[in-house]
Parts: sequence; structure tokens; C-alpha cells
Amino acid sequence: MQQQLASIVATARQESAAVTTRAEMEAFKARVMGPNGSLTQVMKGMGSLSKEERPVVGRLINEAKREVEDLLAALLAKVEDAEIGSALGAPADPSLPPPDAPAGSAHPLSRTRERILASFRKLGFTVAEGPEVETEWHCFDALNTPADHPARDMQDTLYLPASFRSADAPRKGTEAVLLRTHTSSVQVRTMLSRKPPFRIVAPGRCFRRDAVDATHSANFHQVEGLWIDRQVTLADLRGVLDFFVKETFGPEAETRLRPSFFPFTEPSFEMDLRSPNLGRLSGRWLEIMGCGLVDPKVLELCGLAPQEWSGLAFGLGLERIAMLVHGIDDIRHFYANDARFLRQFA
Ligand code: DAH
Repeated sequence: MQQQLASIVATARQESAAVTTRAEMEAFKARVMGPNGSLTQVMKGMGSLSKEERPVVGRLINEAKREVEDLLAALLAKVEDAEIGSALGAPADPSLPPPDAPAGSAHPLSRTRERILASFRKLGFTVAEGPEVETEWHCFDALNTPADHPARDMQDTLYLPASFRSADAPRKGTEAVLLRTHTSSVQVRTMLSRKPPFRIVAPGRCFRRDAVDATHSANFHQVEGLWIDRQVTLADLRGVLDFFVKETFGPEAETRLRPSFFPFTEPSFEMDLRSPNLGRLSGRWLEIMGCGLVDPKVLELCGLAPQEWSGLAFGLGLERIAMLVHGIDDIRHFYANDARFLRQFA
């Protein structure tokens, strides 16, 4: 029986090499696996075997069957290729993208960013962008952040080697080049390049020399906001940010402004959020962004007369918002590219 099986497989292998059309493939399949096929005949013979022989022969039959199935799978691929080739009038090109490729989906951070930008667009904000590699002047000096401020420390901030200096800085000593620590530098570039009034939101990547853990990443994202106009007030700040929070977290979400300090705003606040719909964080006040009215010193440094212009500004962490909205407990999930995580947002 062993020999018989070996010869069935050998014959099948030989015959399969000659198959080129679907009809030939079907005929081949019938000859081996059909009701009267050679392999089927052997299987039918199992009944006449002794108890001891049966498992041994059964295993051999299964092996032969698997070999024939592999041959059939290869034949099917060959026949389909040929069919596609003749339908196209040319051989199938396997390097072409398949017409029905899985579509993939936007990354949860991209989705959160788009949602946030959509809320601010409703209030007349447009999107502005700036470089990730920034000068010390745009990142710190112009934002009224003094030379001895800890954020400027080599230990906290990723500077490029001293051979990279930028001509894009107005003063000697401010032309060092670094990876921006926040998107607030886009405020500066916008005030320098556009005539107020304007309202912008600036999404983008930021970098800090942070040790990576569940809530810190050396690479993260912020969305910055700036509204420059005549007589912008704290009431505007509250109105804009409340609107955003309710759009993002639902109408039950409450906010509060807590006095704080930033060198580039006066007064400065942290905005806190409280909502009954945040899973285990429900009902707790959670800090979600820094904000304030633009410090007149910053307006001046960016060429706007503080007697004429005023502004509000805010900056929020995209990861933090996405984590709160989706109940994600570890920032590292965003960068691991684990399809099991990403698929949940598809
Ligand atoms: N740049 C601040 C940070 O990275 C966030 C921030 C706070 C931005 C207050 C602002 C603001 O525009 O007004 O921590």
C-alpha cells in the first residue's frame, strides 16, 4: 500500500506539470481525489485492513493527500495567473498593487489631531505650520524665555552641534539650532509673517530630552493656538477653549482655569477638565493645557505694537487628549506600530 501511495503521488506530480488550463486542473483533481480517483480508491481500501495496520496506513494516506493538495494549490495559482494574463492581454505583473488591497486606517494621533483642528476651524482658526528644527531665538528668546530658564538647558533640550548655526536669528547668541521643545515657536513665525488680525492652530511634533515611560516620550505632539486681534480678552479665551472641550469630550465636560505661569503669557493658566465620561478618571479634575493672554513683551519682540494688538494663546498635548478620549493608559502604544492596537481605531 505504501508503494501504491508513493506511485500515486509521483504520477500526480508528473501530471500536474502538464496542466495549463482550469479544465485540465479539474480533470486532474478528479483523477486523484474524485469519487473514483486513485487516492480515493486507496482510502476505500482502508476498511479491509486490520486494527493495527489502520493507523499506520491512515497516516501515510494523509501525507499523500497533503502533497496532492499542495500540488492543487500551486496549480490554482498558476491557472489564475494565466487567466488574468489572457484577460489583460499581457502576463500578470505581480509588482502591481492589488485592486482590493486592505485600506489601512488613520493613526489614532492623526485622527485626534484632525478632530481637534476641525473644532477650531469652526471658530475661524486656520492651520499654520513651522519647522521641527528651530532656532533658539524662535523657540525661547522671542517667547520671553530668558537665557537662564531651565527649559533652555542642554540637559533638557536637544541641540544640534554648534556647527549648525542659523542665519534666521536676529541676534548673536540666539542662532543655536535645536529640535523644538514646543509648537509655541509657530506663534512667533506667524506673528512675524502675517498681518493681524488672525487665528491659527499649529499642530506638530516636539522633542524633549525626556526619559521614556508610560506618560513621557522624547518625541510627542502638540497643538498650539494663537488669536491676535484688537482687544482679545479672557472671555474670548474661555469661550474658545470651552467650545473645544465640549466638542471633544461632550457637553457634560466642565472646565476651570487655574492660575499658572508661562514666560510668554500674562496672565497664564492651566486649563483643567472634569467629565463623568472618562472611565476610571471620571469626576477628577485633569490638567489638559496651558494658556493665557499673549505677554505684551512677546508682541513687541514679534513686531506687533502692544498698544494696538492683543492676543490669546494655548498649547495642548495631542497624546494626552487622545489618551483621555480613548482611555489609553500608556503613551508608548502610539509609537509601537502594533496592528492589534491600531486596528481598534480603524
Ligand atoms: N508651550 C507650553 C508647553 O510646551 C504650552 C503652552 C502654554 C502654550 C501656554 C501656550 C500657552 O501657547 O499660552 O508647555
